[in-house]
Formats: sequence, C-alpha cells, structure tokens
Amino acid sequence: MTIPVIIDCDPGIDDVMALTLAFAHPELDIKLITTEPGNQTQEKTIHNALTFTSYMKKNIEIARGLDKPFFRKLEIADKVHGENGLGNVEFPEPTIQVSNRPAIEAMKETLLSSDEQIILIATGPLTNVGALLLAHPEVKSKIKYISYMGGAAVGGNMSPTAEFNVYVDPHAADIVFRSGIPIVMSGLDVTHKAYVTIEEINEMEAIGSDFASKVSQMLRFYIHSAKQTAFHAPNFENQIHLHDLCAVSYVLTPELFEGDNCHVAVELEGKYTAGTTIVDYAQQTGLPHNVKVLHTINREKFVEQFFHAVKQMSAD
Ligand code: BDR
Ligand code: CA
Repeated sequence: MTIPVIIDCDPGIDDVMALTLAFAHPELDIKLITTEPGNQTQEKTIHNALTFTSYMKKNIEIARGLDKPFFRKLEIADKVHGENGLGNVEFPEPTIQVSNRPAIEAMKETLLSSDEQIILIATGPLTNVGALLLAHPEVKSKIKYISYMGGAAVGGNMSPTAEFNVYVDPHAADIVFRSGIPIVMSGLDVTHKAYVTIEEINEMEAIGSDFASKVSQMLRFYIHSAKQTAFHAPNFENQIHLHDLCAVSYVLTPELFEGDNCHVAVELEGKYTAGTTIVDYAQQTGLPHNVKVLHTINREKFVEQFFHAVKQMSAD
C-alpha cells in the first residue's frame, strides 16, 4: 500500500535531504512538489527543486508557489544555506520543466481529485499552505494531516524564541495552526536531537558515489555555516541537525518519535516574540489540542534510515 503525499518545501540543504529520504521510499506516492521562498528566494528554491529532482531521476510535478510571505518582508537564510541555497554545490541543469499550474492550483486540484486523503509534508514557511487553506477551505477534508518542520516549544534559531520557518511567515503559520487539520510538529525540540556527526558524514562519503560526495559537501557546508549563526543548536561543534528530514521520517516511521498532543498558537507580533510558537504542554490555556508536538527521536535508527536512503539513491 502506498502513502500519497504532497511536499511543500524551500530547498535548502536539509530540504533536499528530506526529498532524498522521500525519493528512496517507493511506498511514498509523491503526487506533487511545491516550492516557496524561505532559505532562498522563490527563483532559487524552484530551481533547486527542479535540478535536484532531475538529478535524482524522478519524474514528479513541481509547481512554483508564492513569491513572498503574507505580510512580512522576506528574510532568507543565505548565510546558512549559501548563495545558491544548496551549500554552493552545483547540480546539472534540470530536465524537468516547472509545472504550468501555479502551486496553489496544483495543490487544490491534486487534493480534490484524490479518492483518498493525502498527507501534506511541509518543510518551509507555510506561505503556500496558508494561502491554499484561505482560498480553498474545501480541501481540508482531503488532508489526512500535516507533517510540519517548524516551531519550537523552547528556544529559537531566528530569535531567542522563534524558529526560522514560522518566523518567516507567522501569519501563514497562524492560518494553518488554526485550520483544524491535524498537525504533527517537528520543531527544534526534536530536530536538534536529529543530527549527524562529522564522522558519520565521512562514512557516508565513503559510499563513493557522486551523490554521496555531493551530500557530504552540502552537510560540511551546513556544519560550517550554521556554526557562524544562531542556527546551530547550543554546544554543537562537529554535528548538524537534519531538521526537515524529521517531517518525512515521521510519515514513514512514526515509531521513531515521541510527542504530546497539546494546543499550539502562533505569536504574530511582539517586540521580541513574533513568529514564536506558544506550546501549551501544561494545558494552562484550556484550549483544544491542535498539534502533536514531537520531542523525542531514536537518533540511531533515524541516521540509519538516512544512510540507507543515500546508499539507495547512489545506486539508482
Ligand atoms: C528550518 O529552517 C530552514 O533553514 C531549514 O531548511 C529548516 O526547514 C529549521 O529551522
Ligand atoms: Ca526547509
């Protein structure tokens, strides 16, 4: 049995690692990939999705999403993901053409024409998903749940309390978190535990393929660049978190994760707190549970799963 999914992303080094895991698992039926600005501009994230998917020899519809967050001025993470968004590692020109359907239309039509519910995997700011839900609320019943990388119960990487994806477009995230669609949130609480070490990256490089070499180059860049910014988890030196991979891994193997159901709200404004996810673990607000917030991961199995995917995609 296959699991139908749509992947909305902003590639991004860890976004392409997440795509790698998805591509390596034929049980995931990827109906559509959509892109948005975040780690880099829309121009670059769509280009990266096209080049990477072509390089991986996958023939999947890739649709271009919105160019800007709802209200905030776009802030990109070029210091972390590089000028081209992929740690300046180059892929050949794409063989896949961008879809002639804009992302919101493509998402709507894919969802409404599906007989079964689809899981939405989102690894960027939620601009496209927020716009989809505002424009076409009738799609809600077609979404099984949203596996989302973003937010944090504690801490942040863009501000002391805000994680990058939510910080970039809190208004879109707010629409999604209040939509009533079940959400599984891989926030920094779990993604900072989902890391690979430099030794593991070296082992991966030893696979010896062009792809393994590109993956290790991107991850080395990520270790180096994240270290210069607040993007690095405290005390990290020679390891790097694979945030976005968690959102795909959860769909494949939820048993690797633990989390709690609770109410999560998004702070829209605030002198210090815009883009913060307010995670009510202690149930102080009395508001209904809308999110399963992940906090624990079996890192060993997670890294094994990632290795297996890189090997698998090196062989194809
Ligand atoms: C998130 O921010 C981006 O830079 C990564 O791709 C990930 O989605 C982590 O905070
Ligand atoms: Ca991302």
